[in-house]
Amino acid sequence: MVEVRKARLADMEQVFELVNQYANEGLMLPRTKESLILNLQSIFVADEKGEILGIASLAILGHDLAEIRSLGVKEKAKGRGIGKMLVERVVEETKQIGIPKLISLTYQVAFFKKCGFDIIQKTEMPQKVWTDCIHCPKFTNCDEIAMAIQTA
Ligand SMILES: CC(C)(COP(=O)(O)OP(=O)(O)OC[C@H]1O[C@@H](n2cnc3c(N)ncnc32)[C@H](O)[C@@H]1OP(=O)(O)O)[C@@H](O)C(=O)NCCC(=O)NCCS
Repeated sequence: MVEVRKARLADMEQVFELVNQYANEGLMLPRTKESLILNLQSIFVADEKGEILGIASLAILGHDLAEIRSLGVKEKAKGRGIGKMLVERVVEETKQIGIPKLISLTYQVAFFKKCGFDIIQKTEMPQKVWTDCIHCPKFTNCDEIAMAIQTA
């Protein structure tokens, strides 16, 4: 049975491997072990008998906006509903914290639609654009789609 739970220090090797495998394929931003450990409280994992099959993290961008980051499910575990479970857990956490909107910048539009997200204009998330995107080399020609779900 797959359990979605908060990450623990002992998960970090497996989390690091998963993130950086997808980062090498250009599907996720790379993260150092240190950055993962410093953000441990915001990371969720899908655990099946000690094997980490998927991860997702939550970043707070401001009082009214949060972002789901580093979402990935192991190749062999795709299509079992694990990605959706992770997104639902992050949505739930965002609600519990009291932040009204959760965004994703993604190429996986069909998947996020299934999770209840809608496409938005990047102008609807100025906090993201003027803090993170402005430092990104793809700033002027970003091809990621902005999507959002209301959480309050
Ligand atoms: C995107 C990703 C997280 C989806 O995880 P997953 O566990 O395979 O997805 P799920 O099984 O939970 O799928 C949930 C629903 O979305 C659909 N779906 C999943 N991936 C899809 C895709 N690429 N295109 C269309 N629909 C998709 C599923 O069919 C399912 O639909 P259903 O509820 O009607 O059965 C996974 O493919 C992945 O890790 N990709 C590589 C990393 C990546 O791109 N991350 C996103 C960064 S924002």
